[in-house]
Amino acid sequence: MNVLLVGSGGREHALAWKIAQSEQLQKLFVAPGSDSIATLPHTNCIDIGATDCQALVNFAKDNNIDLVIIGPEQPLAEGLADLCIKHNINVFGPTQQAAQLEASKIFAKNIMLEAGIPTANSQSFTNLSSINDYLKQASYPLVIKADGLAAGKGVAVCQTQIAAMDFASSIFEEQKFGTAGAKALVEECLIGRECSILGITDGKTIRLLESAQDHKRLKDNDQGPNTGGMGAYSPSPIFTPSLKEKVLAHVFQPLLTTLQKKNIPYCGIIYAGIMVTHDAFYVLEFNARFGDPETQVILPRLDSDILDLFMHAVDGTLAHADIRWKNEAALTIVMASKGYPESSEKGIPIEGLETKLTNAIVFHAGTKKVEEQWQTNGGRVLAVTSIAPNLAQARATGYENVKHITFAGSQTRSDIGKDI
Ligand code: AMP
Ligand code: GLY
Repeated sequence: MNVLLVGSGGREHALAWKIAQSEQLQKLFVAPGSDSIATLPHTNCIDIGATDCQALVNFAKDNNIDLVIIGPEQPLAEGLADLCIKHNINVFGPTQQAAQLEASKIFAKNIMLEAGIPTANSQSFTNLSSINDYLKQASYPLVIKADGLAAGKGVAVCQTQIAAMDFASSIFEEQKFGTAGAKALVEECLIGRECSILGITDGKTIRLLESAQDHKRLKDNDQGPNTGGMGAYSPSPIFTPSLKEKVLAHVFQPLLTTLQKKNIPYCGIIYAGIMVTHDAFYVLEFNARFGDPETQVILPRLDSDILDLFMHAVDGTLAHADIRWKNEAALTIVMASKGYPESSEKGIPIEGLETKLTNAIVFHAGTKKVEEQWQTNGGRVLAVTSIAPNLAQARATGYENVKHITFAGSQTRSDIGKDI
């Protein structure tokens, strides 16, 4: 098969790494990819941006692409899958309408209410004065979410009215999130433990992938601002077989039924961010794609051929797919650049990438190679994944492994997987 993978981050490096191992792969093209992705076998990076939908489709037609796989949320929200379908190109990734599950938190909330999926109580707002009126009489803590895509940064857990009003004004007055902040949700704050549950679906059948736990806050002990994710591990011990059954019955099945009822087809990954409280669980968000950095711990554990799985989803035969997992644990530690998540420092030399690490895969999220020297080139720079028979060992090996890689200003949490 000739495959076109869209994206360039750590998640796409993990996807490309796994796709490159498929026996069915002839050639993998990655748009735009990265210097590290380009080093994978059978892989070429092409200079087309991830949201340049027409150019991507033209490339797919000109190069006999058998399958387009869409990594990030932006091209999904912009309708890349729709354009592929229009041109009869196989595509793994939902249509623009289906991707609203991620691209609009209010759309997702309405679907959850219609489907009876457990989720936090909430109210939506379209301007500063009405949200402020609400915030003045609300009880705290509460959560404010910009409606649209904000790279994981559009959500604030607010302990006080002052903090809430500040965040509301960053959405509606400063317009920090642009049109993604044209609307906002205020949600009750849930206390519990989170895990990320990803399922692959053809719109009729959903098959859950192994669970993962992300660490979204920048600093240890879940302090500091929300980020795209500072580390992750798989499996998540809180995702017990009984919770898995409940999540299938009360989240994914009703979600698929509701999408079908609304004539919204869905081929791709559905990611549910779940909060498990002492006696219940709630969906915090849906994503319409693989998680980043969850993918960097889930895919190393997948034993099956990933292209086989993707083709089952495209063909509507997922019920028959053979999905096998390795009985191992994986833990990834993100190394972010100075200033992240507000900004990022580019061009800083990275040392130690040639070191032979123990049972590790170093996924590059934001790097480039300049005259044989790897440099930082984004907010999240590396996701160092370590694999071991169990999580405690993966964590111990992981923290030994990251010691060998250094760059000025690097930010790393020291408690990834500490709560296992
Ligand atoms: P989201 O993008 O909606 O998943 O939100 C990002 C992060 O904010 C989540 O991973 C949680 O850590 C936190 N969060 C979101 N919604 C809530 C909520 N209702 N209660 C408590 N924390 C939340
Ligand atoms: N790691 C969270 C996300 O991918 O949205």
